This record gives sequence, C-alpha cells and structure tokens, in this order.
Amino acid sequence: MTHPSTIDPGSDFYPALHRALAALLAGERDPIANTANMAALIYQEMERVSWVGFYFKRASELVLGPFQGPPACIRIPFGEGVCGLAAQSGQSLRVGRVQDFPGHIACDARAQSELVIPIRWAGEVVGVLDLDSHIAERFLEADQIGLASCVRLLECAVDWRLVSS
Ligand code: SME
Repeated sequence: MTHPSTIDPGSDFYPALHRALAALLAGERDPIANTANMAALIYQEMERVSWVGFYFKRASELVLGPFQGPPACIRIPFGEGVCGLAAQSGQSLRVGRVQDFPGHIACDARAQSELVIPIRWAGEVVGVLDLDSHIAERFLEADQIGLASCVRLLECAVDWRLVSS
C-alpha cells in the first residue's frame, strides 16, 4: 500500500513523525479529533501499513474508534485478540505472523502482521493504537519504540475523560 508521504522513511523517521504529531495535536484536547488526525498521519506516512486506528475501552470491551483503512471489527472483549490482550496486560504486542498468534481476530483476511500499543491515562488502559500490515514481519522493534513514543505524546495531549468509561 502506498500513500503520498512527506516524511523520509529513513533513520530520522520517528523523530520527524513525533514532531509532525506534536504540531497536529497542539492546542487541541478532544480525543476524537486528535486520534482521527493521528491515525491519518500514521497511515499517510508509514509504508506497507494496511490499517491504523484506535479502540477505546468501554466497560469490559474495546470499541472501534477513528481509523484509516478498510472497515474493521467494532467490539473486542478485553483479553481477546491481539488488541484485547494488549489492553488487558497493558503491554505492547508485536506479532510478526498473525496466523501463529492464538486468538488473533481477523478483521481483514489479508492481514499478516500487527502492532498494538496500549494507551494509559490515570493509571488505567483507556484504549489501544492498532496497526496492521499485509506483509509478514512488517513491524520492527524500532516501530514499536517509535510508535510508543507517539502514543505517550497522545496520552498527554488528550482529555481522556471524554471517552473513558
Ligand atoms: N486483529 C485485531 C483486531 C482488530 S483489527 O486488526 C483492526 C486483534 O486480533 O485484536
């Protein structure tokens, strides 16, 4: 999948993405506006990513939030799928081959690899950032670290009381 990128996908990619995200989030605290723009930025700038978006915690499940890519599963129980397990454990999950991951939920039959990063606010997981790729082993440790740093920025930039329950 190709998108018109503005950031050079070299070694400076994540610092540049972080700066672009900081500019996008500046002066706005709304969770829907900020997660929508963050999904759009990542989808535009990252190569070989088929889906990027957010799930928000509602009671004991995750509910689909803003995203880019094909339509996706709407509700994921906490503890299920890659997203539900990452949300339950509070740990990022990087899956190189989704077919080898027990419980993976296939919203898109072509998805081969996935990266999920929990979003925390006030000591609780309030949602996750999820990325899918049609390429196996697409996401490297550098992607996990770089995107986690972007999620830390988002955590501070949003008033999570507007989505958290
Ligand atoms: N594959 C995810 C479901 C969400 S989609 O990838 C958008 C999972 O196993 O939780």
